[in-house]
Amino acid sequence: MDRKGIILAGGKGTRLYPLTKSTSKCILPVYDKPMIYYSLATLLMSGIRDILVISTPEDVKNYSNLIGDGKNFGINVSYDIQPTPDGIAQALIIAENFLTNQPSALMLADNIFYGDGLESKLVESSMRDSSTVFSYEVHDPERFGICEIDGNNRVISLEEKPAKPKSNLAVTGLYFYDSDAPQIAKNIEPSDRGELEITDVNIEYMKSNNLYSEVLNDSYMWIDAGTQESFLMASNYVKSVEDKTGMKILCPEEIAFKKGYISSDDLNKIAEEYSNSEYGKYLKKLIA
Ligand code: DAU
Repeated sequence: MDRKGIILAGGKGTRLYPLTKSTSKCILPVYDKPMIYYSLATLLMSGIRDILVISTPEDVKNYSNLIGDGKNFGINVSYDIQPTPDGIAQALIIAENFLTNQPSALMLADNIFYGDGLESKLVESSMRDSSTVFSYEVHDPERFGICEIDGNNRVISLEEKPAKPKSNLAVTGLYFYDSDAPQIAKNIEPSDRGELEITDVNIEYMKSNNLYSEVLNDSYMWIDAGTQESFLMASNYVKSVEDKTGMKILCPEEIAFKKGYISSDDLNKIAEEYSNSEYGKYLKKLIA
């Protein structure tokens, strides 16, 4: 069954105030693209063509003005709201009707993944029946969901922001679940901070021996662009890769074109609309 995507772009973004006082964090630029384009590109790379964007009642309109119905990317994009930020796992409950009992990929819109071979890792994980998280070694494990894995990459322990981390493997903000995810999310209790924790959903999968971790080694880059420091680091990283290669990274229109989701005519229309920007000129070059 086809996997459906959920992009969670809610929350108040208070860690970036005043930048996010009057706009949503994931509309802000990461170098040459709005932040949400990176998660859109990641789901497109995974082969997912039906995506629900969830944001706040105030911000959802901005995302739909930006991304529309998905036609520019040859996919379907719809929208829903999270009235208050009651936890990442709540996205799975909000998305229940959209998912129609199909497997899902939930992605936090402030996460950025990049590296050679990422696309095949994503496609393989997407085709797997079991649920998959993506982990990445960090030097500040107290800030993340942290996992331990066995020799077969099965997750054997999981803790949200542990005071005494058992490993340095952070669970990143991309989760591939089977069709049970909304039901599991409905059955967990809010944490001490009053949120439905995604780590608690993952713990349920782990308990049924059904959670695997794809470890992204240091040839990959993962950035949670939610702090002032990492927000700037993300732009600097994208710029340095793009300057070096002369190619854009995680450009959703390019991925859609290369995957055959949109035609050269479709791409040309977007390039014309953006003809004043470097982004538009880049799209134009892709057609040639
Ligand atoms: O980035 C990976 C980490 O994301 C994981 O390692 C953690 O296990 C996971 O809990 C999460 O931790 P964060 O501390 O980064 O979560 P935060 O509350 O900052 O939320 C992440 C993004 O999700 C942020 O852009 C806001 C959005 N969000 C969050 C909540 C709680 C929502 O849209 N709605 C919500 O209810």
